[in-house]
Amino acid sequence: MASTAVVKAINDQIAMEFKAAYTYLSMSAYFENKNLPGFARWMRMQYEEELAHALRLFDFLTDLGARVELQQIPQPPADYDSTLAAFQAALQHEQKVTASINKIYDLAVKESHYPTQLQMQWFVNEQVEEEKSVGDVISQLQLVGDNGPALLMLDKQLGGRTGEGGEGP
Ligand code: FEO
Repeated sequence: MASTAVVKAINDQIAMEFKAAYTYLSMSAYFENKNLPGFARWMRMQYEEELAHALRLFDFLTDLGARVELQQIPQPPADYDSTLAAFQAALQHEQKVTASINKIYDLAVKESHYPTQLQMQWFVNEQVEEEKSVGDVISQLQLVGDNGPALLMLDKQLGGRTGEGGEGP
């Protein structure tokens, strides 16, 4: 049986994943409004990944026989100063998620709760991918700078994102 502390940490993480999902969906709306459908699609796929993360933890707690307690999701920002600023905000959020996952892992080690350790290992690996995929787009945006045609090409490229983590062909 997971301790109260472990169950609370995972419930808090579920809330964090929903917050991330909501933030990415808001970013998708921001890019739709800017007529950048590729960036919008990339963000929407990220939204779907975050929902999957939240539900994975929801199912994990349920499988443990623990109680899922959903929390309030704060309103995400609607606007960003630029495309780059939106992705930088996404990276900052991913880094906070990574720190939170690491803390849960540490707690599970301290309490010798092996199922949570294994579950958190999946998330540790996933966070490497998450930070990399956002970081890759930031690098590309920094190369693009103020070049409008290059930004449109990147938009087209990101719109081809098909699977988990990467940005497609
Ligand atoms: Fe579920 Fe992007 O962290």
